[in-house]
Amino acid sequence: MEQMGGKHILLGVTGGIAAYKSAELVRRLREAGAEVRVVLTRAGAEFVTPLTFQALSGQTVFGGSPEQAAPESAMEHIELARWADAILVAPATAHTLARLSHGLADDLLTTICLASDAPLAVAPAMNRRMWNNKITQSNIDRLRTCGVHLFGPAEGEQACGEWGAGRMLEPEVLIQRLAGLFKTPLLAGLRIVVTAGPTLEDIDPVRYLGNRSSGKMGYAVASAAVGAGAEVVLVSGVTSLARPDGVAFVKVRSAGEMHNEVMRRVTNCDIFIAAAAVADYRPAARIDRKIKKNDAPLALELVPNPDILAEVARLANGPFCVGFAAETERLAEHAEAKRVAKGVDMIAANQVGRPGIGFESDENALEVFWSGGRATLPRSSKTEVAHRLIELIGQRYNSAS
Ligand code: C5P
Repeated sequence: MEQMGGKHILLGVTGGIAAYKSAELVRRLREAGAEVRVVLTRAGAEFVTPLTFQALSGQTVFGGSPEQAAPESAMEHIELARWADAILVAPATAHTLARLSHGLADDLLTTICLASDAPLAVAPAMNRRMWNNKITQSNIDRLRTCGVHLFGPAEGEQACGEWGAGRMLEPEVLIQRLAGLFKTPLLAGLRIVVTAGPTLEDIDPVRYLGNRSSGKMGYAVASAAVGAGAEVVLVSGVTSLARPDGVAFVKVRSAGEMHNEVMRRVTNCDIFIAAAAVADYRPAARIDRKIKKNDAPLALELVPNPDILAEVARLANGPFCVGFAAETERLAEHAEAKRVAKGVDMIAANQVGRPGIGFESDENALEVFWSGGRATLPRSSKTEVAHRLIELIGQRYNSAS
């Protein structure tokens, strides 16, 4: 297995009990063809000695002692920063993640991380409460925003006897993820249009018909597509979310506007992902003045909105189409029927009405269907689910074209 043939991997080891697994990681990285140099933090060296890493890597180990851990030790940091094709910090403690997220350079490892252009990945390992702590999570968000790759953590039994998220990923998984950094991005060069968020259908100047959609899933999908190398246009209804980095952003309000903006762009794109919660109906007429309240019943005449996804799927030589389906019951049956009725290539269905996932939540789980196949994307953060969905879309797109 020469997954990492000739790659220069700089492994940062910080002070967590999972550091013992990093010794195995070095051995396996070398088996996979990588050259490995280890940089220890002072605390890292208290868990596993530099000698162990030296023997396993066949290279001088850096950091560890107070003198060697100092950022100014010789010009090592620049040389090592240049040498690395990728930097992996494993285990990454909450403390080191905090230092990295604030750009601190108070030891050799953090200085190298700042001084290098190589991709930086972190494999967190800590007690689940430390991982779930809002401070750690906001540090993680910051690191992600700055392009740092997050490998894990996994859920499971912890060294402290607790159960939860915070275990470092196993060495073979870390190697797979590292190898992924050197592959051509799955969607490199593809043009993707994503819709997200709710559409709002005005009744009068102060009232509208809308639906419960935060836009989080669609925004996460757009970000994941950018991360996979695609050129992304995000056509978004009104949301309170920050516009994702790297997308061309088109803001709309109503289904009619979303329809126009999408139809102008899809003839020129490879993949269309409809994650928006489009209102099925709009008022037949928008009243120009605020409707005054009185005791009589009020009837609103509604007319159907265009089904954007179905229309795009009907285009001759149209893009590969992916739809979403929110279902409260008989998920597989309804989703598959929707896929066929709309004529789309893939449909991602989520069960709504379950606590903790879907709509405004930060988590989701999807069942994805395509002609002749299906896959389950288990419950996870919307970011993680979006990454897995984009991977699946990339695979199906590549096998269809
Ligand atoms: O028919 P239903 O609304 O359940 O279909 C959901 C899928 O169709 C989603 O992908 C949604 O973005 C898309 N859709 C659309 N235009 C509509 C209604 C739904 O693009 N008018």
